[in-house]
This record gives sequence, structure tokens and C-alpha cells, in this order.
Amino acid sequence: MRDDLLSKLLSSKKYREVCPDTVRRIWNECAGKYKKPGDVDRAAREALHGITAAFMTGEEALQLARDMQAWHCDKTDIGLERMLGRHASTRERLPLSETDALYGRLFGITGRPRSVLDLACGINPLYLGARGIHAVGVDISGGAVEAVNRFGQVYGMPVRAVCADLLSPGAIPGGAYDVALLFKLLPLLERQRAASAMDVMRAVNAKWLVASFPTRTLGGRNVGMAAHYAGWMEGHIPPGRSLAGCFETDNELFYILKQDIG
Ligand SMILES: C[S@@+](CC[C@H](N)C(=O)[O-])C[C@H]1O[C@@H](n2cnc3c(N)ncnc32)[C@H](O)[C@@H]1O
Repeated sequence: MRDDLLSKLLSSKKYREVCPDTVRRIWNECAGKYKKPGDVDRAAREALHGITAAFMTGEEALQLARDMQAWHCDKTDIGLERMLGRHASTRERLPLSETDALYGRLFGITGRPRSVLDLACGINPLYLGARGIHAVGVDISGGAVEAVNRFGQVYGMPVRAVCADLLSPGAIPGGAYDVALLFKLLPLLERQRAASAMDVMRAVNAKWLVASFPTRTLGGRNVGMAAHYAGWMEGHIPPGRSLAGCFETDNELFYILKQDIG
């Protein structure tokens, strides 16, 4: 019965595109907490919704594919803004002038990168690629990864992504990068496995690490998240890195960490 439910979950319309390692991991965690198969199934679906499906629906992924095709004809900023609006996280950084201003501020500290590693990328590499920045993304959302790879392979933008779970060994792509982006990732990782945020930060091979945190709930409320995450980040600077900058936008808190020399 349990195996049947897991197979159903793995092939369900909503979750078949999610990294199978993640679906199995979440299932096993829920199976450790609940006895009844129906409760395990419900808890696993709820958890998967909260860590990935909530950010971009299947319908939004389909609309994104159409937007991308339209964008390719004239490559306007209006078209780029429409694409970025299909995922909750990039949508929260719109209008595009604000996204441009944010990256202007970040790259004012790090310098314009030649290579970016974007962990739990969502569709953020679309912005980077459209602005001519080479980026490699990782995400458990097959829909987001597929969109990034289509942008690279079909439309010739300098981006690619892999579908992998950052809590599985070997999920971080090899190589050295100028900048690693960990946007709105660390609290999600901690929710999935305590102390995993530090493990992931330590495993990143990049001169600069930029971590961000939401400061409003998905419903837009300000409930003191900025102070909470600032306290967490300042107590969790990974060894070999120093704080190079920190600022807040209307709904997101950014920390820029530099690799120590020597
Ligand atoms: C809040 S969104 C942030 C997306 C992107 N970083 C941005 O800020 O535009 C969180 C992303 O983390 C991904 N995610 C959650 N858990 C993950 C894991 N264990 N490994 C890789 N990606 C994960 C989700 O699929 C989702 O795309």
C-alpha cells in the first residue's frame, strides 16, 4: 500500500517533474513520523508543495514556455519581465528596473562576474542569461530546470541547469565560480534538514557568496523576518569567508560574503 502510494506520488501530475531523490527523501521522512499510509502521503504532498511546487504552478510553467518563444522574436525587457513574473521569487523582484538595480548593487561589490553558480535557482538564470552573464543553476523543480535549459539550448543564452537535490551528495556542480547565489535558499534547507545550510555554504567553490532571505511572508506581511534572518546569518558565516556587505530591499535581505585570501 505504501509503495503504491509512493509510486502514485512520483508519477502524479503535480510532482512527477520534481527531482525523484527529493520525493523519496521527503516520503521516507514522513514515513518515519506517521503510521497510516494516507497520513504519510498527505504529509509528503504538503511538504513538497511548501519547498517547491508553491513557487511555480504547472500552468505558469506552460505560460513561461510561450513567453520565451515570444521573447525570442524581439528580446524586449517587457518580454523578459513577463517571463520572470512566472515564478514567485523572481516576480517579487519586479519591476525589471528593480531587478537591474539589485544586481547593480550586488555587482558593485563583487564586480561583474564571468561565471555564476545559482543554487536552488528557480528561473533566476533567465535574468542572468538575458543580461549576458554565464550561469549554471541547480534546482529540484524539473519545470524550472527545463525552462533554464530551453533558454540555453533552444534560444542560445549562456545558461544551463541541473535537476538535483542539494541535500544529496554531489548535487553541486563542480568547477570554480566568481559568484554563487543562494537566494531564499538557506531557511528552506534548514527546514528540510537541520545544519544543512552550513554544509552547502561550505561546499560552494566561489569567490563570492550571496545569500538572501525573504523579509515578508508569501502573503506580503512584515512579521519581523529581517531581524530574525540577520541574526541567523551573522551567527553562521562559514569558515574562510568574511562579511563584505549587507542590504535590504522592500522584501528581501542580502548578505555578501567574500572568500578570505590565503
Ligand atoms: C524561494 S525559491 C527561490 C528561487 C530562486 N533562488 C530565486 O530567489 O529566484 C526556492 C527554490 O528552491 C528550490 N529547492 C527547494 N529545496 C531544494 C533542494 N533541497 N535542493 C535544490 N533546490 C531546492 C525550489 O524548487 C525553489 O525553486
